[in-house]
Amino acid sequence: MKTALVILAAGKGTRMNSDLPKVLHPLAGAPLLVHAMRAGGSLAPDHTVIVAGHGIDAVRDAALDHDETAIVVEQSEQLGTAHAAAQARSALTGFGGTVIVLFGDTPFVRPETLEAMCEAAARHDVVVLGFEARDPGRYGRLVMQGDELQRIVEFKDATEPERAITLCNSGVIACRAALLFDLIEAVGNDNAAGEYYLPDIVGIARARGLSATTVTCEEAETLGINTRAELASAEAAFQSRARAMAFEDGVTMPAPETVHFAFDTVVGGDSLIEPNVVFGPGVTVESGATIRAFSHLEGCHVARGSVIGPYARLRPGAELAENVRIGNFVEVKNAAIGAGTKVNHLSYIGDATLGEETNIGAGTITCNYDGVMKHHTHIGNRVFIGSNTMLVAPVQIGDGAMTGSGSVITSDVEADALALARAPQVEKPGMAAKLMKILRAKKARNQRGS
Ligand code: UD1
Ligand code: CA
Repeated sequence: MKTALVILAAGKGTRMNSDLPKVLHPLAGAPLLVHAMRAGGSLAPDHTVIVAGHGIDAVRDAALDHDETAIVVEQSEQLGTAHAAAQARSALTGFGGTVIVLFGDTPFVRPETLEAMCEAAARHDVVVLGFEARDPGRYGRLVMQGDELQRIVEFKDATEPERAITLCNSGVIACRAALLFDLIEAVGNDNAAGEYYLPDIVGIARARGLSATTVTCEEAETLGINTRAELASAEAAFQSRARAMAFEDGVTMPAPETVHFAFDTVVGGDSLIEPNVVFGPGVTVESGATIRAFSHLEGCHVARGSVIGPYARLRPGAELAENVRIGNFVEVKNAAIGAGTKVNHLSYIGDATLGEETNIGAGTITCNYDGVMKHHTHIGNRVFIGSNTMLVAPVQIGDGAMTGSGSVITSDVEADALALARAPQVEKPGMAAKLMKILRAKKARNQRGS
């Protein structure tokens, strides 16, 4: 069955008290909107339409950054969820499949749940995702008759007996495209909020003799974020699930509560993640790697057998082959490091390619930036870079070469050569003792004088 996603994301999110549109607040390293797009993306939809309003430029950038085929349409005035969904109509002209409407502030809907909704949509005209609410609060209530959904009533408009219903509307709806837009046209705004309610399509469909039903899920899945406190609880919920999944995958974490995952972190089995490790977006750690305490990784790949940290920073584009060692206070950015190579102490490796079995001495820096442009450093196999070497890029160090400690290397070094680029040492016998004597005498004179 062909599917299209319509993600409603035009609201301001007043209760976030923020200049940033609510759907762009990050959860596990990705905007809330991207979580909704990923959940819906699991259906491999033919179209993804984002309805944006507040902060539309920033919302468009985030949407296209995640999926360049997404279509962003504008809802310039927020007149309600039915009015928002109606804005997707022209973007879906000619589309004959099923539309799934999601909310941009609801990040945890599972792919399995959306699949269940698609299956139900093959048998019913309108399908609504509902949940049993512990505290139904202000949610819309699902009025059922057996398996048939009769209508949805918003809290504000509900009678006391209706408010007693605990089966609530998540906001997720599935319906054939043509029918959806047809039903939306019949929605009015004569209600307590003066808004066009998308859930009203259920009552309208039923009045036309069409069928409607409910698919249910856990309340945790439908968690919508309205405040910063809710965002923090959602983050905590995400992290505890991610840690539990890592354990199931065979990852060892002695202090799981201190390890922070991103939405897309991949860690292979038999890896060890020590305390206080933070994963930003885009990290893959292969099986049997060790990430030692207080390391920060983002946009990088660590192959099996490598040991990172403690106190290491891997930034986007760090590609580490097998059995690499990255030690304390080492930063690696946009650099491929060959198997068995070691960068153990206090170094910056950026915009570089390092071969295999190479040793980078303490305090080495690839000087990649000239103030305007970035330049590349190429270091071969089995190279020995002496401590405190400055490699002024662009520069190439051939296989088996060495650099002397403290060298500032500004031109290429050929294979097997030793490069020394520092002032030669000068030694003056007895000079240290003589100097000390003069200085001490001077200090004594000054103290007598004062
Ligand atoms: C909505 C449902 C309610 C359900 C609840 C679940 C309606 C009328 N009510 O209420 O039944 O229990 O979600 O969380 O749908 N939006 C727009 N444009 C608008 C209005 C809203 O894009 O004009 C977007 C918002 O940005 C948000 C989503 O739609 O992502 C939901 O809107 P919101 O105002 O939060 O709806 P609720 O009052 O929570
Ligand atoms: Ca809401």
